[in-house]
Amino acid sequence: MIIGRNSPCWCGSGKKYKVCHMDFDDRINEYRRRGHKVPGHELIKTPEQIEGIKKSAVINMACLDYIGEHIRAGISTQEIDNWVSRITKEMGGIPATLNYEGFPKSVCTSINSQVCHGIPSDADILMDGDIINCDCSTILDGYYSDSSRMFIIGNVDDKTRQFVEDVHEAVRVGLNAVKPWRFLGDMGSAVNEFCRSKGYSVVREIGGHGVGLDFHEEPWVSYVSKPGTEMLMVPGLCFTIEPMVNMGNADIFIDADNDWTVYTDDDSLSAQWEVQLVVTEDGYELLSW
Ligand code: MF3
Ligand code: CO
Repeated sequence: MIIGRNSPCWCGSGKKYKVCHMDFDDRINEYRRRGHKVPGHELIKTPEQIEGIKKSAVINMACLDYIGEHIRAGISTQEIDNWVSRITKEMGGIPATLNYEGFPKSVCTSINSQVCHGIPSDADILMDGDIINCDCSTILDGYYSDSSRMFIIGNVDDKTRQFVEDVHEAVRVGLNAVKPWRFLGDMGSAVNEFCRSKGYSVVREIGGHGVGLDFHEEPWVSYVSKPGTEMLMVPGLCFTIEPMVNMGNADIFIDADNDWTVYTDDDSLSAQWEVQLVVTEDGYELLSW
């Protein structure tokens, strides 16, 4: 669509197009002409939308903080679901996973060799030496936040503790590669190189995603991608960095009974941390972590 130079900008700022996003669009179109994947206007968040996402993230992070303070050996993962459900509702939000494509709970709880989408249950009791990812996502006033953290239960051996820390570092390595007018593949390859250098492998089939006005928006975000490929990162683009990293090989399978929970094929441990960010003029701003 052609917008007149003096027409109001598509971003809703009320400014004329020529003094608002015209140069921005020209720059994006240059990349499009060269054959790159570029974001459409619908993926560029306005300052008002970013504020909405941040308010949603306050609830998201309150849930994760509470889990961190109360998680321990002997509790069930259903108890974690109860906490997230209660806190989210008390703070006025809606758990985004609940009934999402049939997912039955308010949080994903993935223990040890579970890669992601673990379903909270009374039958799953945390034990000393376990590692667990709790993946929390919240809707507030239509705005989505999404982040996850690892928790260590009791006494975990040094190798496992180091693994969990390294996977957290992998997210920071990815964040350092988030710059406007660079590519998602620059970030994904940085994550993959780092994980491989530690002897781990990154899951290929499941990645991150755009998020904000919907739970899963474009782009799909790989952490095994190549530099200079995948979508162009531009200010206002909002997505997650959430690599799933296995101590053994990268292969996975899905639980045939519940059709949700993903496991490592070789039964090795898997860890994941997730942050949600928006690309800014000089890098990124974290929205949920
Ligand atoms: N936070 C996870 C993600 O970003 C949640 C998946 S949706 C679920 O993909 F319903 F499967 F849990
Ligand atoms: Co996510």
